[in-house]
Amino acid sequence: MKAPIQQYANLKKLSIAAAGHIARIAEQCVNERGYFTLALSGGSTPRTLHEYLTALPYSANISWMETHLFWGDERFVPADHPDSNFLMALHTLIDHVPVPAENVHRIPTELPTPEQAAKQYETTLREKMEVFDLSSRSQRVPVFDCLLLGMGPDGHTASLFPGSPVLAEQTRWVAATPLPNLNPPVRRITLTFPVINAAKHVFFLVAGAEKQEIVQTIQDEPDNAREQYPAARVNPVSGELLWFVC
Ligand code: 6PG
Repeated sequence: MKAPIQQYANLKKLSIAAAGHIARIAEQCVNERGYFTLALSGGSTPRTLHEYLTALPYSANISWMETHLFWGDERFVPADHPDSNFLMALHTLIDHVPVPAENVHRIPTELPTPEQAAKQYETTLREKMEVFDLSSRSQRVPVFDCLLLGMGPDGHTASLFPGSPVLAEQTRWVAATPLPNLNPPVRRITLTFPVINAAKHVFFLVAGAEKQEIVQTIQDEPDNAREQYPAARVNPVSGELLWFVC
């Protein structure tokens, strides 16, 4: 089934729409079971969304005290490095909302290797996340209430790059990636497809004319796209998938 693509005139309108969806889901999750789990994306596109999430009316619908923040991927750089996805979220979101420090679950890039950071993050997910059996695959996978993704000009998403051996990962929840041929030229840590596709609500936020053709190909020729573009392999098992595009 084709995932709905919602085109917006600009990044501001895209971000406002996404903020509304996230706030609605957050309110529903906290009302129903007392907490909300949100996996943030990296890159630059989410900056505007973060700013809207810290402002009324959206911030009023999000119980930040009951919200847990995670990351879909991270560059293997220190948490205070300008390329850190955590640092971007700290400056544009976390510093402006009352989310408890113990609810901010960043990927531990201070560990000696990306492999150790990935292994530790998977342990964090096991400790913090409601997990459930995917009966069709008898696999226990953490389930994010909402998971945000971007897409690069090569069709990568999170840190799942074309040709990466991690694309085929079906057991580990978190993996270290080889060095990508995109900036910044650093190794990454990423959630794998089983975790991404287990989420209840998966939102792509994609901005830029250079990405439009890939979005359309994913929409119109999903089978071909899956071979070429990792973003085309995002296909939630039972969750909602929405594309916010401008
Ligand atoms: C990262 C991101 C990556 C990003 C895309 C789009 O660590 O870089 O997780 O997947 O979402 O590359 O990046 P922009 O939003 O900057 O275009």
